[in-house]
Amino acid sequence: MTVLQELESRLATALISVLGEPVMATVTPTADLRFGDYQSNAAMVLAKQRKTNPRALAQQIMDSLDLTDLATAEIAGPGFLNFRILPGAYAMRAAALIRDERLGVPASGVGRTVVVDFSAPNVAKPMHVGHIRSTIIGDSLVRIARFLGFRVIADNHIGDWGTQFGMILVGWKTLLNAAALEIDPIPELVRIYREINAATKDQPDLLETCKRELVKLQAGNPENLAIWQQCINVSKRGLQKIYTKLDVSFDHWLGESHYNEQLAGLVDEFLEQGLARVSHGAVCIFSDGSKAPDDDPFLVHKEDGWTDNPTIIRKADGGFLYATTDLATIQFRIDKWQADHVWYVVGVPQQLHFRQLFEAAARWGKTGDFRHIAFGSILGDDRKLMKTRSGENVQLSDVLTEAVERAAAVIAEKNPGLPAAEAAAIAETVGIGAVKFAELSQNRLTDYVFSWDRMLALHGDTAPYLQYSYVRIRSIFRKLDTPFDATTCQVVLGDNEEIHLARLLVRFGEIVPTILDDFRPNLLANYLLELARAFHSFFEACPVLKATEPSRSSRLALCDLTSRTLQQGLSLLGIKVPDKM
Ligand code: ARG
Repeated sequence: MTVLQELESRLATALISVLGEPVMATVTPTADLRFGDYQSNAAMVLAKQRKTNPRALAQQIMDSLDLTDLATAEIAGPGFLNFRILPGAYAMRAAALIRDERLGVPASGVGRTVVVDFSAPNVAKPMHVGHIRSTIIGDSLVRIARFLGFRVIADNHIGDWGTQFGMILVGWKTLLNAAALEIDPIPELVRIYREINAATKDQPDLLETCKRELVKLQAGNPENLAIWQQCINVSKRGLQKIYTKLDVSFDHWLGESHYNEQLAGLVDEFLEQGLARVSHGAVCIFSDGSKAPDDDPFLVHKEDGWTDNPTIIRKADGGFLYATTDLATIQFRIDKWQADHVWYVVGVPQQLHFRQLFEAAARWGKTGDFRHIAFGSILGDDRKLMKTRSGENVQLSDVLTEAVERAAAVIAEKNPGLPAAEAAAIAETVGIGAVKFAELSQNRLTDYVFSWDRMLALHGDTAPYLQYSYVRIRSIFRKLDTPFDATTCQVVLGDNEEIHLARLLVRFGEIVPTILDDFRPNLLANYLLELARAFHSFFEACPVLKATEPSRSSRLALCDLTSRTLQQGLSLLGIKVPDKM
């Protein structure tokens, strides 16, 4: 049990004896340690329901509350119960964590299956910085859910069947440079796509040719299918290079094309079941009137009131759409994978798509916990959407290359004596870590300004700062003559700085599960920064190697536990730690 759960359980026992019945009471960490470690507003909430005096009720609760060996409590303000955890309780718990591989994190996801749908770039279009957010946030959620014990299926739902293939097919047949494709496929595919796309602007014939090639592909023309397949293969290879660099992996890459065979039957089923109807030749899903208009994704408010805002699942020309594929995908994930949860890590602009999708799936009887985990944009220094100097979308692979180069410069300055190969490996870890942490330490919904200097600062709120803190702790152990075994140590806490360090270490097991309440890896990122700062204060205030026993061993054990917690926490964010920096 975490400290918070232990407090809640003791509070629940007290409430039974005061009120004569079981009631729910929650405890939360305080925002400010001056008011203690945790607090509860239970007395205020319950007094309001029962129309009694909150402070008097708080006093009654205090009188029956058994906090032995755990905390002291006081009543504050209108009836808050403030709890201060005893140093002895922190010491005992920290000692337990030293022996706990999971560092106190409960296995709260066991027995549930979650599909995480993330990254999902479109084939033959470059993966841009917008996809960076999905890839990094999604990967972190995969790691966190896995650590919590969920059965996690990471699925890369790539866009491999879009209308872009009309242009790519024509480009492939007329412009392809096979050598360039061999060396670096994605830029070559992007080039032919761009050139054809630009040329169609003043050549209507060419546009018609593209459309014809697309229709041939969709009808199963062997030549076009073969080209399409080759395109997918080289694109996947190019994408895989980026994922390898990012240390991101998927269990499946079931792209849009995987569902092609299901679409016609699906639309028929929607028609038969009365879930969709034909309108102007297209098959559409409309509002069923069961929801209040402002809650109904199939209605939109225009000047003259609420009007229909249907989802099209088959166009008048017979073509299927993004929404059709996504419905088929939901069916597959529920029927084949027994998914309890599906998390879609996709930008804010697709909000309406997912509201309609989830509503349509529910009507269709596909039940599950579906979430759109949305995120905002990445902005350049000018607070506009990030672009290259020539005005194009910034490509993810360029961002990663530059991150590693810049990290190399930082390392060379800090530690010029490192052998080249070692320095290069560290630069990779630090550069990629910096990009990921800059992303994950933000509230995902806010737009964030991309700044190289800020994300690479050794003394800022950055990955390099956390990695450096880790390296610094490990270097303490390199100074010892005999290997240190933390598991045999007692923890004794005296100074405020060491109590505070233990407090934060003990809190790790509380923080990790809360990330999934609202899918906020930034809670973990901020916690790790706080932990590293607490470590540095501790290390400044409390001698470690020069302390006398039992303090020396206890402090070494806290150092060891801090490094493990930093390493584990960073790994949940997908960030590695170097041995040296
Ligand atoms: N390929 C899409 C895009 O780049 C994202 C797909 C997200 N996943 C999904 N199941 N719709 O916008």
